[in-house]
Amino acid sequence: MSTLAPEAVAPHVRGRFGKPYAWEPECESTQLLLLGSGLPEGAVAATDHQTAGRGRLGRVWEAPPGSSVLLSVMLHPPAGRHWPELSLLGGIAAAEAVEGMTGLSAQVKWPNDVMVDRRKVAGVIAEARDATAVLGIGINVTQAREELPVGTSTEVASMRTITGRAYDVATLAGSLLYRLERLYDTWRHGGLRDVYAELGSRNFLFGRRVAVDGRPGTAAAIGHDGRLEVHLDGGGTLHVESGEVAVVR
Ligand code: BTN
Repeated sequence: MSTLAPEAVAPHVRGRFGKPYAWEPECESTQLLLLGSGLPEGAVAATDHQTAGRGRLGRVWEAPPGSSVLLSVMLHPPAGRHWPELSLLGGIAAAEAVEGMTGLSAQVKWPNDVMVDRRKVAGVIAEARDATAVLGIGINVTQAREELPVGTSTEVASMRTITGRAYDVATLAGSLLYRLERLYDTWRHGGLRDVYAELGSRNFLFGRRVAVDGRPGTAAAIGHDGRLEVHLDGGGTLHVESGEVAVVR
């Protein structure tokens, strides 16, 4: 088991993100430690085990103790920025961090999943309260196959099940925070347009057959406004703003 305890992570924190750093060996959800906390931007809450980890769309996020990166970052986005775009930034940062450690290419499955080898290795959730946003990121690192959730709509993997190697969660967390800070600062000044090169090239859904609310089509680009373009069979284009896009196999 590896840990996100402060003494393990501190040597890997290179910027503002991760200061201050709150850690609990176990908690309900790192999101709850930050939401409404009034902490400054870049504050991080991390844990080695969540008893009620929050996923998007009311789902749960489950992982055995010490197997994952489980952290939330406090952000104070400027007024006028569309804060749901933060999920995409979190996805790019997690994809870069996973790629940096495994050497395998990672994509972002709009709006919030990180995919390696067509399987989900990380998820991102953005929740807002009182003009602050809390960005939660979970990365599956050392789970064995039998420790991963089953029956999910997207096949799930860990970095270990994909490469057969073990990774240190603290090193990965430091890399994730550093990459997220760089992307966030760019987005803060210029919006999604300024991080678009990193996003467009990682669009997992591009060209794939999908269904949106049961309507079949083909996914295309993610727009500069963060919406996913889907060309419907039989004509018409949707610009999907939120929710779920199912991949049709
Ligand atoms: C998803 O894929 O639905 C999003 C999952 C987000 C999970 C992370 S783990 C750390 C943070 N705390 C939570 O309760 N959820 C996020």
